[in-house]
Amino acid sequence: MTRIRRHLGLLVASLVALTVGAWLAPYVTAWERVSVVSAWLCLGFLASALLIGPLQRIRGDDPPLNIYLRRDIGIWAALHGLLHFYAGNVVAMNSVYVAAFVRTPTPELPVTIRDPLFSFGATAGLVIAIIFLLLLAISSDRALRWLGPKKWKWLQRSAHASLWLTVTHGIAYQLLEARMLPLLATVLLSIWVIATQIRARRAAKQLN
Ligand code: HEM
Repeated sequence: MTRIRRHLGLLVASLVALTVGAWLAPYVTAWERVSVVSAWLCLGFLASALLIGPLQRIRGDDPPLNIYLRRDIGIWAALHGLLHFYAGNVVAMNSVYVAAFVRTPTPELPVTIRDPLFSFGATAGLVIAIIFLLLLAISSDRALRWLGPKKWKWLQRSAHASLWLTVTHGIAYQLLEARMLPLLATVLLSIWVIATQIRARRAAKQLN
């Protein structure tokens, strides 16, 4: 499959998922719907991209430095992340959201916990967006040649940091909004990614 075709496929899949997801999402405003669906598309694409290398290791292959499939899925993860970054700001950075989810305590979550959760979520969101911009800037063959394989790979590794920041950011907002099913889905996805990475490490050790 050529890269152009793959990007077209990812574009169509994204548009279908955004339309269907936003239609089904149990939210009131359009921005809330776009926010939650783009957040999940970002998380799904990001986890998939970062599992390509480990899955190749488990199969007994030694993944090359650059895999176009991983790069292309990563580009779409970053694009959805940046769409959610904008939508998330519209949804959460206002007095109505703060009054409803940060300043209103529940028996399980007092304001002394809600406040730092909100601050952490917003700060992590900003850091992830900066990492995505950096990753988009170096996601070309020209950047790979210009930086050299060592530096390029080192910068690419920040994708792992963006995944775990995304997971913890998501959990922070799911706790604030008491949305337990998405919280469970995020935890299960994280366990699956970690388990696959551990299996890949073991497979790589056996190979050496
Ligand atoms: C590129 C950076 C970001 C990424 C990758 C990201 C990712 C995520 C993920 C995976 C979730 C969990 C989805 C769910 O609620 O079930 C989430 C939720 C949420 N995020 Fe972000 N986020 C980012 C930036 C931000 C920023 C800057 C804000 C605003 C402060 C924000 C506000 C929210 C809110 C309010 C939720 C709860 C549900 C919703 O309305 O989407 N996010 N985010």
